[in-house]
Amino acid sequence: MLRLLALISCGVKIAQAAPDLPEIGRSVFTDKNLSNPPGQSCLTCHNPNHAFADPRRVSPGATPTLSGNRNAPSLMYAALIPPFAYEDILLPDGTEIFAWEGGLFHDGRAKDLFEQVDQPFFEAHEMNLKNKADLAQKIRKSTYKGKFPKGALKDNNQLTYLVFRSLVEFLKSPFFRPFDSPFDRYQAGEKSALSLSQKRGLDIYKTSGGCADCHFLEPQNWNKPLLSDFGYDNLGAPAIGRKDPGLFVVTGNPEDLGKFRAPSLRNIELTAPYLHNGSIKTLREVLEFYNKRDLEPERWGVTDYPETVNHDDLGNLGLTDEDITNLLNFLHAFTDDSLTKKETTFPIAPKKTPSTESIRLNFPDHTHRLDPNFETK
Ligand code: HEC
Ligand code: HEC
Repeated sequence: MLRLLALISCGVKIAQAAPDLPEIGRSVFTDKNLSNPPGQSCLTCHNPNHAFADPRRVSPGATPTLSGNRNAPSLMYAALIPPFAYEDILLPDGTEIFAWEGGLFHDGRAKDLFEQVDQPFFEAHEMNLKNKADLAQKIRKSTYKGKFPKGALKDNNQLTYLVFRSLVEFLKSPFFRPFDSPFDRYQAGEKSALSLSQKRGLDIYKTSGGCADCHFLEPQNWNKPLLSDFGYDNLGAPAIGRKDPGLFVVTGNPEDLGKFRAPSLRNIELTAPYLHNGSIKTLREVLEFYNKRDLEPERWGVTDYPETVNHDDLGNLGLTDEDITNLLNFLHAFTDDSLTKKETTFPIAPKKTPSTESIRLNFPDHTHRLDPNFETK
């Protein structure tokens, strides 16, 4: 997409094409030369065959002996996650409570996507670059450097700013938000989009399973349901390795120890293993965990922070094996058709998916605009 941007240079008005940010973002996302040592890109850990999540429990870094302790989440719909905020919630009985919501990473430590996208470059256990100068130098040597405005190429700050903005714009691309799952078709009125078992599963999701209390079926901050309230909870995930304090790191409140953000359940079938630490291998086991966590302590073992575990909404749901099967089948209805039919590296969104430009103001980060004067600074 070419937008013309008027720039004043030496008192003479010239017209220059604005950089095509999503296009630059795509090149950056797949560039394995941006790590130290080279060999790792965003795509390495956000695997397109797994809805851009990592099928490995934790992802080895560019230095393979180093890795983080969390499972890399799906990037589908990530650009629609609301910013980190302390939100007031009105309960049905009229009382008002406050709770943390939104933000990027499992613990919400990046307020929004723009704060998130620079971090993988500089984490020692991920792409392991020293600093912005290091990143800028690698971009200048890239095959796609010509896509950047010439002025920006000279300045480390402008160049890396454009790299981060371009990743944000890339993650907003229509194929990351196709809304073309059987569940979406069902919502749109195609009653045969769900099997009988899936319809029973939907019922359990809303009633005895209680899933819809946190993985909302109603649209909230977007005009289609994202299957999350983006709230934080400690589900009592089986402990693996060193303790992970979760939201506590951001808020400093001991009540937030071991709490993680509820993810969207879109494409959940494709993103095993599960939970922030990848401790549960299959989707059926996640459901068994929700159903019987408190009845089978020996099966699930210890958890990092037992004192903050949610015992009100899960742990003993009383579901039968048949209920679990129906619920599992229903969760498969959250898989986007465009991901399962994918033949190219990146999936292709259905034609009706609105362009990013046409719905720019709907995105949670719409207040972050590209400064049109960035070149003249
Ligand atoms: C070494 C593997 C690895 C690489 C490389 C990597 N990521 Fe990630 N990514 C992760 C992990 C692990 C998390 C979760 C970390 C956490 O919550 O602390 C994550 C989280 C994210 C999130 C937050 C999603 C959410 O739901 O909160 C986004 C967005 C993201 N990565 C984008 C990128 C981009 C863009 C790049 C390339 C610049 C990249 N990642 C490179 C492993 C990786
Ligand atoms: C009280 C709120 C709450 C309820 C109720 C709830 N969940 Fe969750 N769910 C969460 C949170 C929070 C996480 C993230 C936990 C973590 O990573 O440690 C999560 C994670 C998950 C995951 C793993 C996602 C991933 O990408 O790893 C699945 C699957 C899931 N929930 C399905 C369900 C189903 C099915 C139900 C109903 C039986 C349900 N949830 C009920 C809050 C909830």
